Amino acid sequence: MCPSNIVSTLALLYASQLVTLAGPKRPRVGKELSELGIIRDGGISIRDGKIDIVGKSHEIEKKADDAEVVDLGGRVALPGFVDAHTHLVFAGNRLEDFERRARGETYEQIAKASGGIGSTVEKTRAASEAELVAAAKKHADWFLQCGTTTVEAKSGYGLTLEDELKILRVMRRLNDETQLEIVPTFLGAHAVPREMSPEGYVDLVINEMLPRAAKEKLAEFCDVFCEHGYFDIEQSRKILTAAKKLGLKLRGHVDQLSNSGGAKLMAELGAATADHLEKTDKQGIAALKAANVQPVLLPGSVYALGSTSYPRAREMIEAGLAVVLATDFNPGSSPTPSMPMVLSLACTQMKMSPAEAITAATINAAHSLNRGDKIGSLESGKMANVTVFDCEDYRELAYWFGIPQTHAIYVRGKQIK
Ligand code: NIG
Ligand code: FE
Repeated sequence: MCPSNIVSTLALLYASQLVTLAGPKRPRVGKELSELGIIRDGGISIRDGKIDIVGKSHEIEKKADDAEVVDLGGRVALPGFVDAHTHLVFAGNRLEDFERRARGETYEQIAKASGGIGSTVEKTRAASEAELVAAAKKHADWFLQCGTTTVEAKSGYGLTLEDELKILRVMRRLNDETQLEIVPTFLGAHAVPREMSPEGYVDLVINEMLPRAAKEKLAEFCDVFCEHGYFDIEQSRKILTAAKKLGLKLRGHVDQLSNSGGAKLMAELGAATADHLEKTDKQGIAALKAANVQPVLLPGSVYALGSTSYPRAREMIEAGLAVVLATDFNPGSSPTPSMPMVLSLACTQMKMSPAEAITAATINAAHSLNRGDKIGSLESGKMANVTVFDCEDYRELAYWFGIPQTHAIYVRGKQIK
């Protein structure tokens, strides 16, 4: 067929910079993190929700002459952000904790004194599935408005079999009823519920919760909060090993408040990701590298907890790790759905460059969710998830902060903003 006869439904043209992230079909490391594959005056054509042609706008205009053309007006276009660590489904908020932290109390002190994860668990248990769907839809809309089109979402505010399944079902409904793509993770081991012993709860997670979540295909990943006062290395190993046997892939909250060897555990288990890592040392970084585990860095939670203990992003990049950035959206330690805010923190606090940060928030995040072949870059055959920002240079995304810059958002080729 003559190329001029290509039938396309939509062409997004005349971006000042089309940030494609085109490159090798694997997570990006080292210098590759800075290679954004920018096409100046670029555009894409979209057919059946997928990206068809990527290139210079005037060339696409010639080839896709039957397409409906949208003029992006010299703005920046990127693949939708992929947020690889969120706690999307919960009831209420944690305003009491927020005020207490402002008065100088720490996350651990507040958790012991009836705040913390336990207080969100109470509210989430009391909420019906319909109420949780309504709250989560509001959160999903926040993500989309910030330019995020895929999120990983963790359970973990139920801590009984029925309440954990309820949260995972809410995610499934959200996937069907909103434009946001949700990748579900089972985090039954988020905290030991107040009414149970640690041993009894670990048994419940392994013998009842995990098998049900796996059987009903409600989760792709399993996560554990490995930390003093939550789950120790032995308990975390037991839970994650059981999850692996059931076919789930692994992620883990490790070395957030203390260095307990969590990064090494994730390496030993061949996890997809090790998340947080604020307290991880050189040995932990080397272990992640040897086992090809992707670090997921969450500067929003460091910021919101009023800490300055950011993870050592530069050392990780220099060690050759395929770094990912995510929001850690949750009511306690990181109440933000904003990936642009995370880009700002990554550059100002962790000394990543804007290009490295964008790679970590798109294609590397997509690979960490096992979706590197479908999302995270603007390449032919991938889903047409595109965000258009009201600026001319991609570095402005991380530079201006506290200002919404999203101009338009397309999910599978459909404009939703
Ligand atoms: O990733 N660290 C454990 N979980 C969350 C906090 C959850 C909460 O405080 O509600 C986190 O920071
Ligand atoms: Fe988290």
